[in-house]
Amino acid sequence: MEKNFYIETFGCQMNEYDSEKISGMLKNLDYKETEDIKSADLIIYNTCLIRKNAENKLYGKLGALKKLKSEKDDLILAVGGCIPQNDEIRNYILEKYPFIDIIFGTNTFYRLPEMISKHLNNNNDVLVELEKNSSSLNENLPTIRKYDHKALINIMYGCNNFCSYCVVPHTRGRERSRDSEDILTEIKLLASQGFKEVTLLGQNVNSYGNDIEGDYKFTQLLEEVEDIDGIERIRYVSSHPKDVGDDFIDFLSRSKKVCNHIHLPIQSGSSKVLKEMNRKYSKEDYLLIIEKLKKSVPNISISTDFIVGFPGETEEDFEETLEVCREAEFDAAFTFIYSIRPDTPAGKREDQIDDKIKHERFNKLLETLYPTFYEKNLAYKGKVVKVLVDEVSKSKDDYLTGRSASNRIVHFKGNKDLIGKIVNVKITNVKTWFLEGVLTEEDAYE
Ligand code: 5AD
Ligand code: SF4
Repeated sequence: MEKNFYIETFGCQMNEYDSEKISGMLKNLDYKETEDIKSADLIIYNTCLIRKNAENKLYGKLGALKKLKSEKDDLILAVGGCIPQNDEIRNYILEKYPFIDIIFGTNTFYRLPEMISKHLNNNNDVLVELEKNSSSLNENLPTIRKYDHKALINIMYGCNNFCSYCVVPHTRGRERSRDSEDILTEIKLLASQGFKEVTLLGQNVNSYGNDIEGDYKFTQLLEEVEDIDGIERIRYVSSHPKDVGDDFIDFLSRSKKVCNHIHLPIQSGSSKVLKEMNRKYSKEDYLLIIEKLKKSVPNISISTDFIVGFPGETEEDFEETLEVCREAEFDAAFTFIYSIRPDTPAGKREDQIDDKIKHERFNKLLETLYPTFYEKNLAYKGKVVKVLVDEVSKSKDDYLTGRSASNRIVHFKGNKDLIGKIVNVKITNVKTWFLEGVLTEEDAYE
């Protein structure tokens, strides 16, 4: 009988990528993906530990599954990804949710098929497989991709930066770059299958190659990806400001295919806080990088991440963050309230900021950022942009949604035959979070 699996992914694109691999492996085992959790024979949560609320979300889901699990004897429940990598939290989960069957980590998800068959042969006991710093880079796993026209490609695993607030180096281990030949082969195959866009993923893509002997670095990789026929757009995420050098900016200014968008997390506008975060750049360093980027790459769109309420953050520090927002004029931002994470130096500090102050600062930050997002979008009104069409709009059946090169979401009326194509759209209306327009034959501005 056919078996169904349901997978839910929390957190970053790295987890999305791992989930695509997991889905690919399960399809090889003749499992079919379902969106209806009740019809699933196997439920997988690929989890995130970056903030406490991501953790709480999982607990909510697991609590709700208890009933389903008791009604369906042979239902398999697997929890994987970042959360199980932490010993304390994993033990808490094992104790609180004893009905979980399989626990795997960020470096062992490729063993899931093996774990499922072990479980089927020897029911009852929970199976736990974890590795802190796997050297196996999971090459040659099948992948089920969400789209047929754009793909996520992991170019490196782990992180070496140990920002003082962050749990990622503890959950995903040290930086390990994939072999460039493997990456290029994967992208060439995608191009031959009609994929037009690739997003190169890593916690810090600009340090690609630093762990490998020789001087093949991120810029060389981009140059080679750019030479692949059929690939029309290249994206990359994330970049750590400390590794964005002049040669990279130079390359961006020459590149025909790398999109005019960079995600460059700043975290704070106070050099004092940045030092305590162990970010290895100052406010001035950051502003200089974006000045260079803006000069070298026409219409570059700069998005960022902020953390408010880092331990010891004073009103003056926070004011500096607002000041940087006004100066940098970000196109988009992900904003986070600082969350205490296990095993991190910042989590152990005694000068934690009061919740109420954190929330007040968070709201002030949004009030400062949002008008700029809108203003930046307004500059597109009346202009024609090239849009890679992703899907039918979630709110209207006869509308499509896609992204401009600068990573703006664009909605417009159109037939679903256009999905996967790059079309020209004239922008007629803008909002803080997206653009609206109409299909046009006119030449594109960007
Ligand atoms: N609390 C809040 N935000 C965090 N981030 C990472 N760790 C924490 C934390 N402990 C944010 C950073 C990072 C993004 C992926 O998540 O802004 O860039
Ligand atoms: Fe975390 Fe810093 Fe590494 Fe990003 S660069 S994953 S914030 S430690």
